[in-house]
Amino acid sequence: MKETLQGEFFDKLKFRLSGILGEDARAIIPRLVKSDGRRHAKKYALALFMMFLVAASTGLTAYLMRDVINKIFVDRNHLAVWALGGALIGLYMMKGLAGYFQTVTLAKVGHRIIADYQKRLFDTTLMQGIPFFSKQHSTDFLNRMNNGANGARLVLDLVVTSLGRDVLTLVFLVTVMVVQEPVMAFFCLVILPIVVVVVRQLIRRARQIVHRNFVGSGRVLQTMQETVQGIRVVKSYNLEDRVRERMAESIHDLEESLNKQARVGARTGPLMETLGGMAVGLFVIYAGYSVLNGAKMPGEFFSAITALLLAYEPAKRLARLNLDMATALTMSRFLFDVLDSKPAEVEPASLPSLKVSKGEIEFRNVFFEYRADEPVLKNASFVADAKRTTALVGSSGGGKSTIMNLIERFYEPVSGTILIDGQDIAACSRRSLRDQIAYVSQDLFLFSGTIRENIRLGRSGASDEDFIAAAKAAHAHEFIMGFEKGYDTEVGEHGTQLSGGQRARISIARAFLKNAPILLLDEPTAALDAESEKEVQRALDDLRKSRTTLLIAHRLQTVMSADKICVVDDGSIVETGTHQELLARRGRYHAFYRLQFDDRNVVNG
Ligand SMILES: Nc1ncnc2c1ncn2[C@@H]1O[C@H](COP(=O)(O)OP(=O)(O)OP(=O)(O)O)[C@@H](O)[C@H]1O
Ligand SMILES: [Mg+2]
Repeated sequence: MKETLQGEFFDKLKFRLSGILGEDARAIIPRLVKSDGRRHAKKYALALFMMFLVAASTGLTAYLMRDVINKIFVDRNHLAVWALGGALIGLYMMKGLAGYFQTVTLAKVGHRIIADYQKRLFDTTLMQGIPFFSKQHSTDFLNRMNNGANGARLVLDLVVTSLGRDVLTLVFLVTVMVVQEPVMAFFCLVILPIVVVVVRQLIRRARQIVHRNFVGSGRVLQTMQETVQGIRVVKSYNLEDRVRERMAESIHDLEESLNKQARVGARTGPLMETLGGMAVGLFVIYAGYSVLNGAKMPGEFFSAITALLLAYEPAKRLARLNLDMATALTMSRFLFDVLDSKPAEVEPASLPSLKVSKGEIEFRNVFFEYRADEPVLKNASFVADAKRTTALVGSSGGGKSTIMNLIERFYEPVSGTILIDGQDIAACSRRSLRDQIAYVSQDLFLFSGTIRENIRLGRSGASDEDFIAAAKAAHAHEFIMGFEKGYDTEVGEHGTQLSGGQRARISIARAFLKNAPILLLDEPTAALDAESEKEVQRALDDLRKSRTTLLIAHRLQTVMSADKICVVDDGSIVETGTHQELLARRGRYHAFYRLQFDDRNVVNG
């Protein structure tokens, strides 16, 4: 369990989130309106028109109440019964239809916006460099994908529905009130400011809670994912109780946080009820006296009170608008955080392509560190000759894999240059560089899917003969044909349905298929038995005649066959030469050789 690592992750996240709290989230609304609002302007205009119809029919309904009372009940007019009844039916039908189109249009635009943002989020994520990925937990990406894009949609929905439906409805209803009973407007004007002030208090709380929700749901995802991926460790160390406890804690935190959100969200309810009640009550007292004194007709009074009651829902929503908006904005921050981060791998299109003729790789005084002030490569210099095999050997943690990371430009050196055929790779486009390299990494990653799909990733459009030849060269063909489904066998998530050695051979086949002039192999045969290793070795022998191979290996057998050996120790190349030369020097390599040779003699003897 990566307890400390996780602690660190959450601390970082909290730190980042507290930074967001201080930020003026209002910058997001104009930005969304300008980009997505404008792009979907026609649809939004349609939705707004529908909302206008809804608002107008609501206002008219309230307005008609005057005649309902005065014409039907006071004047006892029979014609009015039918006319008003029919009008009300028509109005509600129109309201229903307009409401339907408004909902559907908004939902469609909303889903399109979510889809667009999810694509953009994925694109931006792809353009990030490797360090970006090592810094965050993988579930963080899932969480952002879900919550962030949804947040952006919610912000726009709130803008449109509150502006369109609620504000328009209120305008119509207040107009009705003013027309029927001007005094009514006065009550509204007194009550409104109180609502605004109280709701503002709630917003800060709401934002904090949304952050807690985000962190909480992230933690649940994280525990789930790590438990599933590390299930063997969990079972063999009997860690069930511990992961259960951790999961229970995460779920409990999330539950609490959601409850808190509900409480804060509902807090506007009692306030609005009280204030609404006061408005209605005071108005009834005022208007009741006016009617009882015979100064006024009851129709006006009834129409105004209907308008007031109908205004209650949209007013309540508008009162909550700030609160809901704060929530949506905070959610969309999770999206813009990533969208606005500078993608490390974006480069000018004018960058020249790397031209590989022979494929010589040279490290010139390369310094590198993953973390500030913790140098990993210290003045590393060596040449991997063109169309030859160079082996990197040395103790674990010395920086061998790091050298390959730098050749692939997963990371950039702090200083020094890496040249391929005399060209500084930092000055060439990453795509062209990676096109020239076939890389088998230490972790042997396979994608879920079939063996065929996994090998074919090496070169899209490769013919069947080509990829079977690659599989044969990697000594994978035989075991693959042993499976009932052959090349169509599913490998499972991360290739877990295959053995380590099988995964290695499929990874090697994939690299062979790529047929690139430079081959980087990070302990490709470590998971193989001596027999398969020898066979893969032979395949490599065939291949390496025509390409530059950089090979990391621990086994003497593999190392000895290289044309040149570089001994990596504590971030520098301390010895270079052939097996014989290095033995003669009686230095580091000699010690390494003795160690394995003696072991072997003990075993054999
Ligand atoms: N992503 C990373 N972030 C921080 N430090 C790292 C990272 N990857 C490797 N290191 C550190 O860099 C040093 C060199 O690591 P590297 O993987 O290059 O070693 P190696 O020579 O390939 O070892 P091995 O033979 O065990 O594979 C190690 O001390 C390691 O802890
Ligand atoms: Mg390594």
